[in-house]
Amino acid sequence: MNSLIARAVNQLRSVRNVAALTGAGISIESGIPPFRGKGGLWERFDPMEIAHIDAFLADPARVWRVLVKELKDIIDRAEPNDGHKGLARLEAMGILKTVITQNVDGLHQMAGNTDVIEFHGTFAWQRCTQCDKRVETRAVDASVLPPRCSCGGILRPDAVLFGEMIPPVALWRSQDVAARCDVMLVIGTSAIVQPAASMPIIAKQSGAIVIEINPEPTPLTGVISNYLIQGRAGEVIQAIVSGLEKKR
Ligand code: OAD
Repeated sequence: MNSLIARAVNQLRSVRNVAALTGAGISIESGIPPFRGKGGLWERFDPMEIAHIDAFLADPARVWRVLVKELKDIIDRAEPNDGHKGLARLEAMGILKTVITQNVDGLHQMAGNTDVIEFHGTFAWQRCTQCDKRVETRAVDASVLPPRCSCGGILRPDAVLFGEMIPPVALWRSQDVAARCDVMLVIGTSAIVQPAASMPIIAKQSGAIVIEINPEPTPLTGVISNYLIQGRAGEVIQAIVSGLEKKR
């Protein structure tokens, strides 16, 4: 076993209050593109033109056509991968308590995690800009764009667009989870978007061990995280789960 995986297994064995912060990297193995880097969404689109609240208000049909429909099609087909399933297993083992995710794909819940904080909201639901009613994305008729609520208002993703605030309950709960956990697993995030990227800092300052799982270093590496397990989320998390399941 890789020595850092063995180190993580030993540390996870002795604690009961573990939190995970996840980003787009954990869903890549499910076929969902990340935001940054090669093949990333922001390589093809300018987020300020397509994912900013002002862009939506100026031309909701365009945002629907370019961003929402494309993401909806990809997310509708996606299934949890070994990374999501491994985190669900860690919860079932009584080790992992809460997943704070920046992802809007709903795959952690589909895998079986029961306490998932959707830091950037969700694409699985749409919200009426007029009456606030929520409608499941898969039930939305997108043949005429932008789709409208039964009240006539325009539907928008129930997700955080650029220029918008993090839902206060998600922010407050995440800060609380970060401050109280013994170990925080930081998986598949570039850790550059605030305030999500502050959660590992809060965890570290409150005495937690911070373990990163990512093929690449991030701004947290060597500064905030105790160590980086360099690799793909699915493989690394499965290796950790196997290590924990083996008898000592
Ligand atoms: P990014 O696209 O910024 O970063 C993806 C991270 O995943 C990178 O650090 C990669 O090295 C890593 N990665 C790639 N393949 C991986 C694999 N197989 N296993 C594990 N990690 C892998 O995604 P986020 O950090 O999630 O916000 O982006 C944060 C926010 O920026 C998003 O929530 C979104 C975006 O703008 C909003 O839309 C508000």
